[in-house]
Amino acid sequence: KPVPVLAIDGPSGSGKGTISRAVAEALGWHLLDSGAIYRAVGYAASMAGIDLSDAQAVTRCTETTRIVFRDPKDGGETRVVVNGHDATDEIRTETCGAAASAIAAIPAVRAALLDKQRSFRRPPGLVADGRDMGTIVFADAPYKVFLTASADERARRRYKQLKEKGLAVTLSTLLREIEARDERDATRKVAPLRPATGALIIDTTGIPVDAVIAQVLAVVQPA
Ligand code: C5P
Repeated sequence: KPVPVLAIDGPSGSGKGTISRAVAEALGWHLLDSGAIYRAVGYAASMAGIDLSDAQAVTRCTETTRIVFRDPKDGGETRVVVNGHDATDEIRTETCGAAASAIAAIPAVRAALLDKQRSFRRPPGLVADGRDMGTIVFADAPYKVFLTASADERARRRYKQLKEKGLAVTLSTLLREIEARDERDATRKVAPLRPATGALIIDTTGIPVDAVIAQVLAVVQPA
């Protein structure tokens, strides 16, 4: 019997990260933060001074970048180690989000990351957070959810998250950056952001986190 996957896709700030973590915890399943992988590659390419529109150079960089998710000793946030350097905080900036979105539009980069993402599918199950979890990477997933929220609300959530991390941002700049990133993610030729066939679409605008978690859990564990 194949290992079950719950695919959770959606744009930035839709609540995917928070919801995926909580649902994985509740189910006792593994968690894949695929965005962190794209961010790590964007980070590595930027650090190497690679022109992000140079598809060949970025693809080579993708193939050689070592990305390790490390469980924190103190129960805090999962550490993301890129080529031996703990880049957990650096990859969360919107600059890195934009770099991730740029390199994510390169087909060979996406192809090079498929096996790594699929290797997270281990018993008893996987919650996979991203843009193309239900459409491409785990197209055979038995459970699929697509989270959305208004652009204003998504910008406000991201603003709060980044502020909590002590990063300097303004709401209006963030709103513009997020809209530009979503536009690119939704209109790219390869693996564009869109709900998978059969996905439960949840608009989380104004809905408390606990209520969204309950709705998503009900997809896997119907009452
Ligand atoms: O989810 P997060 O904001 O961390 O993702 C950063 C960027 O990585 C997205 O804007 C998108 O361009 C890219 N991404 C992707 N496919 C995924 C996950 C993320 O293209 N499965």
